[in-house]
Amino acid sequence: METAEIRRRFIAHFEQRGHTVVPSASLLLDDPNLLFVNAGMVPFVPYFLGQEPAPFPRAVSVQKCVRTNDIEEVGQTDRHGTFFQMNGNFSFGDYFKEGAIGHAWDLVTKSQADGGFGLPESKLHVSVYLDDDESVALWKRIAGLPDERIHRLGKLDNYWHMGIPGPGGPDSELFLDRGPDFGPEGDIEKAGDRYMEFWNLVFMQVRLSAVRGKDDFDVAEELPAKNIDTGMGLERMAMLLQDKGSIYEIDEVAPVLLRAAELAGRTYGVDHADDTRLRVVADHVRSGLMLISDGVTPGNEARGYVLRRILRRAVRSMRLLGVDEPTLPELLPQSYQMMRRSYPELDAQWDRIAGIAYAEEQAFRQTLRAGTAIFDLAAERTQQAGTGTVSGSDAFALHDTYGFPIDLTLEMAAEQGLSVDEVGFRQLMAEQRAMSKADAKAKKGSHADLSAYRQVLDASGPTDWQAYSTLSTESTVMATLREGRTEFELVAGAIGEVILDRTPFYAESGGQNADAGELVWDGGSAAVLDVQRPVRGLVAHQVRVVAGSLAVGTAVGASVDPEWRLGACQAHSGTHVVHAALREVLGPTALQSGSYNRPGYLRLDFGWASALTDGQVRDLEDVANGALRRDLPVTATLMTLPEAQQLGALALFGETYGELVRVVEIGGEWSRELCGGTHVAHASQIGTVVVTSESSVGAGNRRVEALVGLEGWQYLARERDLVRNLADLLKAPSDQLADRVGDLLSRVRRAEKELAAARNRVLLSGADRLAAGAADVDGIRYVGQVVHDVDAGDVRTLALDVRARLGSDRPGVVTVVGVRDEKASVVVAVNDPARAAGVRAGVLVKAATGPLGGSGGGKDDVAQGGGTRPSGASAALAAVERAIADRAPAA
Ligand code: SER
Repeated sequence: METAEIRRRFIAHFEQRGHTVVPSASLLLDDPNLLFVNAGMVPFVPYFLGQEPAPFPRAVSVQKCVRTNDIEEVGQTDRHGTFFQMNGNFSFGDYFKEGAIGHAWDLVTKSQADGGFGLPESKLHVSVYLDDDESVALWKRIAGLPDERIHRLGKLDNYWHMGIPGPGGPDSELFLDRGPDFGPEGDIEKAGDRYMEFWNLVFMQVRLSAVRGKDDFDVAEELPAKNIDTGMGLERMAMLLQDKGSIYEIDEVAPVLLRAAELAGRTYGVDHADDTRLRVVADHVRSGLMLISDGVTPGNEARGYVLRRILRRAVRSMRLLGVDEPTLPELLPQSYQMMRRSYPELDAQWDRIAGIAYAEEQAFRQTLRAGTAIFDLAAERTQQAGTGTVSGSDAFALHDTYGFPIDLTLEMAAEQGLSVDEVGFRQLMAEQRAMSKADAKAKKGSHADLSAYRQVLDASGPTDWQAYSTLSTESTVMATLREGRTEFELVAGAIGEVILDRTPFYAESGGQNADAGELVWDGGSAAVLDVQRPVRGLVAHQVRVVAGSLAVGTAVGASVDPEWRLGACQAHSGTHVVHAALREVLGPTALQSGSYNRPGYLRLDFGWASALTDGQVRDLEDVANGALRRDLPVTATLMTLPEAQQLGALALFGETYGELVRVVEIGGEWSRELCGGTHVAHASQIGTVVVTSESSVGAGNRRVEALVGLEGWQYLARERDLVRNLADLLKAPSDQLADRVGDLLSRVRRAEKELAAARNRVLLSGADRLAAGAADVDGIRYVGQVVHDVDAGDVRTLALDVRARLGSDRPGVVTVVGVRDEKASVVVAVNDPARAAGVRAGVLVKAATGPLGGSGGGKDDVAQGGGTRPSGASAALAAVERAIADRAPAA
């Protein structure tokens, strides 16, 4: 049965049973604790916790998930994938254990002819949490399972939570016994591949306040309702129903694996090491495709880093399989063709996805080239030192500067019979990580521990957020916090956080910076420095108390600085204008991948492979300012996600469905985006859009920066003043400035050339005399000369010229020491007969650099060096003379 059919049947089964079909949420949800959505239930967390009323009592979904914590396991086992899809049915206070077990059993055992999965009943086992007698009884009654196929296991196996504080509860899992080919009969939790777990029914009934480990957590309270959250691995089910040995061989994944094998000239299933690499490729290529499609771009932090690692692991695995050519252009389309069946939205994105992935591969190939040269140096040093171990700092530098993964360094070292100081490497990595963590913390009030905010939310309810409707409110302080903990009060001078019952402040999100403004109360005031939403529904104002003190219950006037807000609206609307203009100039594949804006300034990152030309930047500005001039109206409308999609609104990544979304339009369909930000009412209020830079931000990603409003005008005014000053200086009208400067430059270049030629003439005019005055040192004609105020290049020219004048009939050696400022340079030139007589320039120059306080080296015929002690110049010449006399006799 095809994967797409399994998905269809799952949804149909539950839809027929009163479940609302919910489309998959993006892999990126706005939760600071989750890198990616990693379970089907993630988008529903607020409903489970009772923070928001569920819009439907029952739901069914097939959710895209990414888990990378066990990335090393990928390919090693039959069933680890970084990207996977989770079929799930959910009940929010509706049916509970009996319903969950009944629905699951029916679907799994119903014959395929009747629309089920038709698994053989006699091969099915289940596990339940130790003391869950109720589930045991239900499995007996509903499924007729005998005792020996119902296994009671502990928290490690049969208790589910998110790994972070949140909802959780005991669960019950379904297994298929795949028979003796897959291992001996035995304990279900130990028998590994034989009993394949494919469906987890979680009886979601408590809220966990702390999670220290899978079986080590604190339960805070019972949830307001008893819920059901189930998760069936779509890939696992496909593997069972398609009778495949692993998830890498199912219909959605196998084409990549087979194409990779073909490119590498290998046959899958012959060699374990090869198979593992092919599986890594098959899994990672698909994950890369799906991550990019949801808006991740390769980078060095967080999500971008995970994507980069995944793509690079795929490329490297191919390299280890002997394929050195670019491979993603061969493999990614295979995955796309399979995945577009379930994700038709990939079609519109394909060009962008492919562009980003291919550019990343190219960048990695460059990294490999550059890094390999550096690695060779490190290896040479190691060989010379005779330790046999590449130092931790070399491995770290390779990683840090050249992006070389440590396993690549390990492997290349092994090829040369060397090992790597991994302990040292990891120590340096840990130090760096600690440093960047401290750095990040210093930059932003870190909300790592959110429990205090959750408590405030539980106690006081969500903040009444009025950022769209007003700039000032009368509010009451619900809580004050410092460094993530509730505090009795904030006194004058203190910096802390304030939670209000209602607020007009915009909290930083969607790329828009937080509002600035103040809180004023009887006897005091505080400046608002930053505004964040540490947990959904709660707005936290970071403030500095200017006078008086703030405590729970204080009545405050909260007001946003109107100038600031106007600037913020200009910048955010300006960002939409620039985005729309970019798409008009470059085409619809130029899609935003990130943005940031604050009063006066905006930047927009977008997927695009090459630098914009000057002409494109000018067109961009033209189109953007044209929209301002036409004074396009700006509107914001609430609608459902499907309605917004129908209108073709560009989704910012990380939107959820369910709730209403806000669609911001500028000139109707000219710019239509899902957006929660604040905006001007008419495009002309943006004032002006001035693009100040266009640059690269990683492979396949460009960044445009622009100034808007008054800042844009001031920038242009500064440029105008600059031009005026230059025009005064050069005594030329501004339209002739470029010609005039070009003219000046070529005159300077000509003058420099002439000067250099004149210097050479002077220098070399003495060369004849020097050659004629050669001394005899032990049968060798020797010229030693100190010259002043010439650079190292001239010193070399002179030395070679004098050597030529000495001729090649008799042995001759020339040493020239150049002195300039506080530095000395030296060149020793030896002719052929002198070399035959055993004189080596490389040896002589070392004698010379001793007195000069430096070092040098080179070949037998010419060598050069330098030092920081010009006073040793004569001693250097004498030292060379001595070295000639002392040379070893010619062999
Ligand atoms: N949340 C559970 C899981 O991820 C069931 O959906 O396994």
